[in-house]
Amino acid sequence: MKIALINGSPKCKESASGALIADFLACAYEKCDCVEIKMNKPKLTDDVIDALTECEAWVFFYPLYVDGVPGHLLSCLKELEKNKDAFGERYIYAVSNCGFYDGRQCEWSLDIIKHWSRRCGFVFGGGNGVGGGGALTVLLNLKPGAKPKSQIDKGLSFIFEKILEENIFDNFYTNVSIPRAIYKMAAEHGWGKSLVKNGKKRKDISSIPN
Ligand SMILES: Cc1cc2nc3c(=O)[nH]c(=O)nc-3n(C[C@H](O)[C@H](O)[C@H](O)COP(=O)(O)O)c2cc1C
Repeated sequence: MKIALINGSPKCKESASGALIADFLACAYEKCDCVEIKMNKPKLTDDVIDALTECEAWVFFYPLYVDGVPGHLLSCLKELEKNKDAFGERYIYAVSNCGFYDGRQCEWSLDIIKHWSRRCGFVFGGGNGVGGGGALTVLLNLKPGAKPKSQIDKGLSFIFEKILEENIFDNFYTNVSIPRAIYKMAAEHGWGKSLVKNGKKRKDISSIPN
């Protein structure tokens, strides 16, 4: 069994989706063949199509954008749909991460992947909504399974087992295991730092651009 781990974040580096892929790879280490595929542009290359052709299961790791799937990824999904007959049967899984604390925010975006899978004649194996995406790149260097991301890593390991069994599961939701208030404070601090870096003041956080 060969698994495609698709990074659907538009970021070239330091994405939460990439951090989740790293933790998934730690579960899969020496147990099966995984190929990491970047889908950070609205167009697919022949290399990407070829790599996907070789994989029986595809796992989409992507950020939640406005309760949905990022636009560039949607364009890629449309392109894959055009090639659906060439792919035949595939197992599709989805791991969506969001900036808000609650992974359940990702519910509708997982439905988008489910409906797309069915339109293509693929099997939708299940999805996982991960909350607290803003903390994931910061926690990247922690050992897989370490406390703040233990729930998330348990979820990824569950998905890995289901993929190996070619099994399906109901969507489920996980969060970073840090108190909600602390996550919110850290996120607001991060926004403040970004404002200062971009020539604004912390108090400009709720100002509306002209
Ligand atoms: C255009 C845009 C829209 C977003 N929409 C949402 C949203 O609806 N809900 C949410 O919780 N987070 C939202 N976010 C935050 C991202 O989902 C979050 O930062 C995520 O961790 C980024 O993942 P990545 O690093 O893999 O790209 C949005 C971010 C951007 C840039």
